[in-house]
Amino acid sequence: MTEEIARGAEAVIKKEDDKIIKDRLQKNYRHKEIDEQLRTSRTKREAKILEKLKGITPKLIKTGKTTLEMEYIKGKLLRDILTENPGLAKEIGKKTGLIHDKNIIHGDLTTSNIILDENNKIRFIDFGLSNTTYKTEDKAVDLHVFLEAIESKHYKAKKEIWTAFTEGYNPSNKKEILERLEIVEKRGRNKQKN
Ligand SMILES: Nc1ncnc2c1ncn2[C@@H]1O[C@H](COP(=O)(O)OP(=O)(O)O)[C@@H](O)[C@H]1O
Ligand SMILES: [Mg+2]
Repeated sequence: MTEEIARGAEAVIKKEDDKIIKDRLQKNYRHKEIDEQLRTSRTKREAKILEKLKGITPKLIKTGKTTLEMEYIKGKLLRDILTENPGLAKEIGKKTGLIHDKNIIHGDLTTSNIILDENNKIRFIDFGLSNTTYKTEDKAVDLHVFLEAIESKHYKAKKEIWTAFTEGYNPSNKKEILERLEIVEKRGRNKQKN
């Protein structure tokens, strides 16, 4: 049986037994060729990263031009449980650090893209905006996106979550990234004022 379980801005997510099929839909407001290029490149990118980050992502089953088949991860979205369990952020931080040490950034590090699986392991999904990068700036921006997500969805436990996250987050150049994050945050605040 196939059932649609989510429909985001970009893709339809269908579940078929233990499998997820992520289908990036055509966007009519985009120029046809540009649209196809974007959907193809994001699909390719996501597939590549799933292979590189085996274990902390769903297992990749099959790649099409604009579709991906991957393991369905049974569990809970962090979006629904993190406010009540801010300590979980330590493990999110730890794994984000491991990802950054591989010079990969997630690109959309929100709690809708993190699952606590049945074995209580943190797993990451949705790598369509990810990138390989050595830049401290890019890693800091990844953390900035996470902070923004916490502010909007988990503001009641924001402090506890961030404390736990930074405790777990230990990439080789942690200090440099967190210092850069402060600059990124300041830039964001100044923009809001203008
Ligand atoms: N491999 C998976 N296992 C379990 N649930 C998934 C999986 N992939 C996606 N989902 C569910 O579908 C939602 C949307 O998928 P996602 O890849 O984040 O696409 P979008 O680009 O639309 O955000 C996720 O928030 C999650 O609830
Ligand atoms: Mg998503």
